[in-house]
Amino acid sequence: MKRCNVTNTWWRDAVIYQVYPRSYADGNGDGVGDIAGIRARLDHLSALGVDAIWFSPWYPSPMADAGYDVSDYRDIDPVFGTLGEVEALIAEAHRAGIRVIVDVVPNHCSIEHPWFQKALADPAAPERELFWFRDGDEMPTAWRGEFGGTTWTRTPDGAWYLHLFTPEQPDFNWDHPRVRAEFESVLRFWLDRGVDGIRIDSAALLMKDPDLPEVDPSAKHPFHDLDAVHDVYRSWRRIADEYADRALIGEVWLPEVDRFAAYLRPDELHAAFNFDFLGCAWDAGAMRACIDRTLDAHAGVGAPATWVLSNHDVTRHVTRYGRQDTAFSFATKREGTPTDLELGTRRARAAALLSLSLPGAAYVYQGEELGLWEVENLPVEARQDPMWQRSGHGRDGCRVPIPWSSERPPFGFSPDGAAEPWLPQPEGWKDLTVAAQTGDPHSMLELYRRAIAARRALSGPMRWLPSPPGALAYARGDVAVVVNMSGAPVPLPDHDTCLLASGPLDDGVLPPDTAVWLRTT
Ligand code: NOJ
Repeated sequence: MKRCNVTNTWWRDAVIYQVYPRSYADGNGDGVGDIAGIRARLDHLSALGVDAIWFSPWYPSPMADAGYDVSDYRDIDPVFGTLGEVEALIAEAHRAGIRVIVDVVPNHCSIEHPWFQKALADPAAPERELFWFRDGDEMPTAWRGEFGGTTWTRTPDGAWYLHLFTPEQPDFNWDHPRVRAEFESVLRFWLDRGVDGIRIDSAALLMKDPDLPEVDPSAKHPFHDLDAVHDVYRSWRRIADEYADRALIGEVWLPEVDRFAAYLRPDELHAAFNFDFLGCAWDAGAMRACIDRTLDAHAGVGAPATWVLSNHDVTRHVTRYGRQDTAFSFATKREGTPTDLELGTRRARAAALLSLSLPGAAYVYQGEELGLWEVENLPVEARQDPMWQRSGHGRDGCRVPIPWSSERPPFGFSPDGAAEPWLPQPEGWKDLTVAAQTGDPHSMLELYRRAIAARRALSGPMRWLPSPPGALAYARGDVAVVVNMSGAPVPLPDHDTCLLASGPLDDGVLPPDTAVWLRTT
């Protein structure tokens, strides 16, 4: 049994594994992943060697946005299990030396949240003040929603309410003290249950300009990144600091590095996801600039960088890296673009050695350690993501249930005789199951296991080393990392031993799309 490392800075260099509960493992046979399934498969995460698990939402929800529409922040949806089971899971993870991060969704709730139900039932209810209700014949603004479409829905009494996501996700009014007090209480609820961190959903969207101006590119945005949001996180940080060893991790999508880093000032969040890195093309120049930008921005506020390749919202990187355009953005996301999965997998292996060797925390999205690809041919009737209906591109393809064992679906995801998995798994995943990859030294899974274990040998800051065009080379202590992103082999620097390689090496040279960790003294 591992012991939790007793420092107050675990989040600075942790490997954090994202569990998407609906798709990790199904314990009760209804075709949907659940807490029982996670508890039964915790050994996978111990064997992988991760330091912490971030659980995507598991709260009661009508699931209009896969649980990111919460109707009760202090309980568990019956589809996933019970609060008692979650408490047992937290204790089991801790016994295995793994920390636990829960996902809190403060920008919006579900239309089934009791506050919204009261607000809807009675135009005079004080709960209307807790949301953004407006009267009038016209829609209050022409703002475009985060999933496309409009951001206001009319109630039967003729009022409008604001929702930056789906109509089933009404936005809270963060100018109201009851909203602030409620979330402070929700944070304490989970921190009191021993969770080690909070992932904050849509962290930059909470505040809105109360004048509700239209979006004007030459003026301050009316709901992205308003300065007042920082007061919220300062108060959250004071709460986190009352407990030992807890981290606040923000989902902050902002292109301006200075604005992004402001969330990581010493009295605000401990860390935030690096979407700049996630979206970066497989190109040495672009990647080096991104790494420098990241490290500079974080150094300025003393916060640890994070390295993220995939999550439950974006095209899996095996698929992205197998395309002509290897960058990611929602605006350019297109399903069905020609993809070379072999190339994508080779690059994903090299990317694992890149992201796991950079200074800071590394995130692993469930299934990336198996080399899963984006499932882009899901039947229309199986698709559940509201983004698909509203914008024509969806996120179901990265949420397909994990293949654990056996030759055919459900690949051990559900027990024998269970209902079909909530999204169909491709037959081709039979070679990517945990069972098929375990013990195969060439598998993605064994590469991740080895890299996570060997990563402990990497310490201190990184420094760039001279590198041939199209390659990245840097050192951390006495380990040199070389990532060849060019189309031609590059020579390896002088070294004593090769600690790890993402693919076969040709007689002292590093083939294209391959990475290596070398001991240099
Ligand atoms: C970001 C989450 O990651 C995504 O899955 C969700 O749809 C939106 N926030 C809205 O909560």
